Amino acid sequence: MSDPGSGNRRRAHPRRRFLLGAGAALTGSAALSAVLSRPTAPVAREGFGADWLFGPYTQGCTDPEFDDRGLALVSVPHCVVPLSWQDWHPADWQQVWVYRQHFLAPAQLRANRAFLRFDGVLSAATVYLNGRRIAARSGGYLPLVCEVTGALTGRDNLLAVVVDGRWQQDTPPDLPEYPNPTAIDFYQPAGIYRAVQLSGVPQAYLSDVHAQQVAVLTPNRTVLVHCTVDSAKPVKGPVRLTATLSQDGTELASSFTDRSGVGKGETTVTVALQDLGAVRLWDVDDPAMCDILVTLSVGGRKVHTYPVRTGLRDARFTVDGFRLNGRPLKLFGLNRHQWYPFVGGAMPGRVQRRDAQILKDDLNCTMVRCSHYPQATAFLDACDELGLLVWEELPGWDHVGDTAWQELAVRDVHDMIVRDRNHPSIVVWGTRVNETLGQYALYGKTDQLAARLDPTRPCTGAVAGQRGYVSPLYPVKAAGGVFSFNDYSRPRPPGAPPTLRPPRHGVPYLVSEAVGTLVGSPHVRRTDSPAIQRQQGLLHAWVHERAAADPRYCGLLAWCAFDYPSGWYHSQRGVKYPGVLDFFRIPKPGAGFYRAQRDPARGAVLEPAFFWDFGPGSPRTGPGRDAIVWSNCDTLVVTVTGRRPLIVRPDHVAFPHLAHPPFRVDLRVDGRALPELSIEGRIGGRTVLRRRFSADPAFDTLAVTADDPQITADGEDTTRVALRSVDRYGAPRPHARGVLTVAVDGPGVLIGEPYLDFGALGGAAAVWIRSVRGTPGTITVTATHPFLDAATATVTAG
Ligand code: GAL
Repeated sequence: MSDPGSGNRRRAHPRRRFLLGAGAALTGSAALSAVLSRPTAPVAREGFGADWLFGPYTQGCTDPEFDDRGLALVSVPHCVVPLSWQDWHPADWQQVWVYRQHFLAPAQLRANRAFLRFDGVLSAATVYLNGRRIAARSGGYLPLVCEVTGALTGRDNLLAVVVDGRWQQDTPPDLPEYPNPTAIDFYQPAGIYRAVQLSGVPQAYLSDVHAQQVAVLTPNRTVLVHCTVDSAKPVKGPVRLTATLSQDGTELASSFTDRSGVGKGETTVTVALQDLGAVRLWDVDDPAMCDILVTLSVGGRKVHTYPVRTGLRDARFTVDGFRLNGRPLKLFGLNRHQWYPFVGGAMPGRVQRRDAQILKDDLNCTMVRCSHYPQATAFLDACDELGLLVWEELPGWDHVGDTAWQELAVRDVHDMIVRDRNHPSIVVWGTRVNETLGQYALYGKTDQLAARLDPTRPCTGAVAGQRGYVSPLYPVKAAGGVFSFNDYSRPRPPGAPPTLRPPRHGVPYLVSEAVGTLVGSPHVRRTDSPAIQRQQGLLHAWVHERAAADPRYCGLLAWCAFDYPSGWYHSQRGVKYPGVLDFFRIPKPGAGFYRAQRDPARGAVLEPAFFWDFGPGSPRTGPGRDAIVWSNCDTLVVTVTGRRPLIVRPDHVAFPHLAHPPFRVDLRVDGRALPELSIEGRIGGRTVLRRRFSADPAFDTLAVTADDPQITADGEDTTRVALRSVDRYGAPRPHARGVLTVAVDGPGVLIGEPYLDFGALGGAAAVWIRSVRGTPGTITVTATHPFLDAATATVTAG
């Protein structure tokens, strides 16, 4: 099934559905609340993923009677326009759109309180239910939650969402420069690009639970469970809040707080969980999660439950570095943008989680910065589960707007912290807009708000340039926070290894960006020169070496993990290319530095910083006198056909603080003979890995690989299929020519393009495959190419 871009299809007439289908056996209000109020309740999630009707806004399109037969059938997450992997044109999405959803609401839902939740809509949403305007939100990175109690009918309900995809100059992160699409360094394509849920809850319900950790490293370790009860009317009689904490299925603590009644509206009740000595702490190497279940009982009857997944840990930024659970830990990481080819931000949970896996498991990062806005909850959940520390920040980029804009920035800080404060992975809040100075009044407010909503985490905000480095420290000091600096110090003389500024005296100091775009080549594509490929990994290695050398650096988060769409300086046809992985999440040779920083106990790594290629576009003389190989072995044996093996050791002299420095090897060769390269990795004299690289393109093939063998047939679940030109041993071949054709057979929708310019892509790309709701089966993705044999990958939808 082929469906390029946003997956729009026409249909004859909107099909009405029951929101609560088979499987939702509800028996009374307690059951209803238990099923529906969980963020992950399958019924709620299914409810508004598929079957949206979508098109340009027209007069009357929010009315229930509007004739919507001409609209396209789409599923959410959704982007309003099909996009390519380059050449995005903001004018295409900067218009006003409408999404319509017809549904039947069962009697139980209508008898209780009901809420609609939009996890993310770019750039502004106005919500209408049955013709009535019920809520609006401007700003695309945090949820819009609205109560729809009493607004649902027993007949066809019509939810209409007007999505304004235009630049919102009064809303962060936008600037007043509309319609200048290059005003900030990332594109923001419009759409309902995150999940939508409708949930039912009882009259008095738990609207929020905040599990605040206290004195985690002491014998008095406590979790203060702040429970917000929201009641439609005053509740008389005994009210009990019970909290239990379990780990790995074993209950370790339980406690309750009683009250006599609660008033109308919100009431916060705290339950203290103590005696938590048996709880395993959450750590980067052992991300031990805990489950806290809060139960609200009224008059002895359980009316609502609220599950929270969290983890107990003590995270501290000090003037002598970062400490996790009392132990020094150098923060080692990258910045992440959330955008993907073809659909912008509109990728579901599985794809979001995958980025966290890449950062932690493949790139060995201990931390990621969510630059420059709150990212998908699924991404943060994965960071929790994998042990990847997170910096999360409010939306913004190098600009603070007028009073109205600033009010929304404060709102965003509030909504971000309330949404995410139970995530153990988050260790610092970005309460100040990236690269903005001064703003003491605004940042005084955001820091104070953060301290009130979450007294456990420090605040920060990245500053840049000489003025940033020497700026007064009021906001940092006031918040007991972290001084974060985007350190793009220029190497002097040009070409010399990059340096970092010394840590600012007297404050915890973190390098929040370095290298990438502004130091070294502004872009790194597979088609760029071998010197650029080689340099990328080395630049990252140098700045991490510098940060590792001085304990006062809490760590360094380099720029950046993935290529991203932008019209800003140094973009090439709408893409910025500083990522160590490309836009498709395929590693570049420079990623080898990160991949090699792995404990060899987790597996040996051996990644050349070059392509072993002698075809057009590659030097005939090979990678040269000072070729780089990244590895976590202690010795490499490098053999070129017909030559004596070279024994090479890591460059601990230049990089004394890196666990796994680069190996330098003389690989000047005569490529005309198409010599083969073999690299053997040894640890303690034992061979642990051997890789071969062929110079002979006659045996090149296509590698087509799916990230997941199985996805759920729900019309939303999606997996990536990577398409790579490789040599006979599976090593990348960068100078592919011709067009790659991609076909999908079976119950899967192609998110991507059926024809890809493999030459321009440097022989590496990907498409994503989305399941079809209610249609299990085998999905086969076939890639064909004029010079390489066809190859396939299969994914089972079940
Ligand atoms: C920084 C900015 C990043 C990115 C980077 C490279 O100044 O914080 O968002 O734009 O430059 O272009």
